[in-house]
Amino acid sequence: MEFDDVIHTRRSVHQYSDADIDEETLYDLFEDVRFAPSSFNLQPWEFLVVRGDDLDRLQSVAYGQEHVTDAAAAVVVLGTLDPSDHAERVTRDLLEKGYLPDEEAAEARLDSVEGLANADEETRRVWTVQSCTLATMALMHAAWNRGIASCPMGGYDADAVHEEFDVPADYEPVCLVTLGYPEDEAADIERPRKFRRPADEFVHLDGFDPVARESPATADD
Ligand SMILES: Cc1cc2nc3c(=O)[nH]c(=O)nc-3n(C[C@H](O)[C@H](O)[C@H](O)COP(=O)(O)O)c2cc1C
Repeated sequence: MEFDDVIHTRRSVHQYSDADIDEETLYDLFEDVRFAPSSFNLQPWEFLVVRGDDLDRLQSVAYGQEHVTDAAAAVVVLGTLDPSDHAERVTRDLLEKGYLPDEEAAEARLDSVEGLANADEETRRVWTVQSCTLATMALMHAAWNRGIASCPMGGYDADAVHEEFDVPADYEPVCLVTLGYPEDEAADIERPRKFRRPADEFVHLDGFDPVARESPATADD
């Protein structure tokens, strides 16, 4: 698919056909995800792929959302809360390939990562969510590029995800993504797109000038 088409025609899909996604195709998606950018290039993501009967378990922690069991697979995007997980090999690679000038720069970088690793949990949570969210978008684009539809989901009970899937406390469930070949109508690109704010409303060239917000309803409305 052309890049523009991937961007413009992807949409959140709830209705999937019965077709499976074979393992080779699944891995192809994640081969694309590898190239997502990440803070310090630390790639803090893990992807738990849930299939078959286990989708019932995932649905139970996702407030019963129906498309979870309709999908061929669903991905639980998990972000490590420990920035030092891959720091050593990532930094060695930067040094070997000349992205860092010398050993001193490598040590300084490792010190920065260690500083982050010692930060409070909220800071580390924001840190991991930023990179994992970009990887999630990459996953959805990689899927749609192959005709596989998706739906990102924030509607789940994170504590229940930890418990149901034995996810250790130092991994943050960042997002769920259902995946599957869409039912005929479900991803029809002719269907009108949901409302999108115009770019000239949310782009602030050379300075931030907040736009008027829709006024909240009052008791008199
Ligand atoms: C952070 C986030 C959380 C979302 N949570 C859910 C969810 O729990 N269930 C769902 O069906 N869709 C969920 N969505 C999908 C949005 O409803 C959808 O992206 C939005 O309506 C725009 O539609 P489109 O993706 O088809 O363009 C979520 C999307 C995002 C980005």
